[in-house]
Amino acid sequence: MNIFTFNKEDDFVQTGANLIVSLLQSNPRAVLGLATGSSPLGIYARLADMYKRGLVSFAKSSVFNLDEYVGLANDHPQSYSTFMKEHLFNHIDIDPKRTFIPNASAHDLEAECQAYDQLLEQNGPVDLQLLGIGSNGHIGFNEPNDHLIGGTQVVDLQEETIQANARFFTSLDEVPKLAVTMGVGSIMKARQIVLIARGVEKAEAIKNAFQGPITTQCPASFLQCHSNVVVLLDHEAGSLLT
Ligand code: F6R
Repeated sequence: MNIFTFNKEDDFVQTGANLIVSLLQSNPRAVLGLATGSSPLGIYARLADMYKRGLVSFAKSSVFNLDEYVGLANDHPQSYSTFMKEHLFNHIDIDPKRTFIPNASAHDLEAECQAYDQLLEQNGPVDLQLLGIGSNGHIGFNEPNDHLIGGTQVVDLQEETIQANARFFTSLDEVPKLAVTMGVGSIMKARQIVLIARGVEKAEAIKNAFQGPITTQCPASFLQCHSNVVVLLDHEAGSLLT
């Protein structure tokens, strides 16, 4: 496990972007696993900038996203499908046919979850999985629980997650309570995992994930069992690590 703590936002962003760019330079067909949320925004903007400057192409790569809210149409302004288009896909040369995100407005969600796992099997393994982390230690939408799931499933979002996500909606009532997420088992199949976190509100989760016991009560702690994990933190998110 390699944990890097950055004092400058620009170094954090550039290091994250460089990991993806160097992978694509050595393997243009790389399969990327991507996350939404605030944490990767700077990295996505930097990737778009590096693409514009001719430093990287995504034309032959594929992207699998971790999760999607249940109950929002794919083109809803707060859907993760819209997020990925607005913040990355519309600004790079990726083939839209090679961008995958669970279709959480499918009529039969169970069949959709199975289909997503099959797509991952057929196209995977993911070469580089980018992850954020919830302040409760979730990865994807795998929330702390007595058990964790292996493959893609519909999950209940915890109150803490609903509250945290409320900042993107006009009222708390509008925040979806269910999501489809890749399971911890699928996440762990990635060849490399890059977890990113910024801000003091992530400090305890980071401490628990990487210096605490491996427990389903902190899903990110399972990353301690993975052989190729890079953790990029700002100074605040890393402030409780010893
Ligand atoms: C989003 C996802 C979540 C977020 C996490 C952190 O696709 O999988 O696990 O990465 O909730 O969110 P931010 O970055 O907004 O703090």
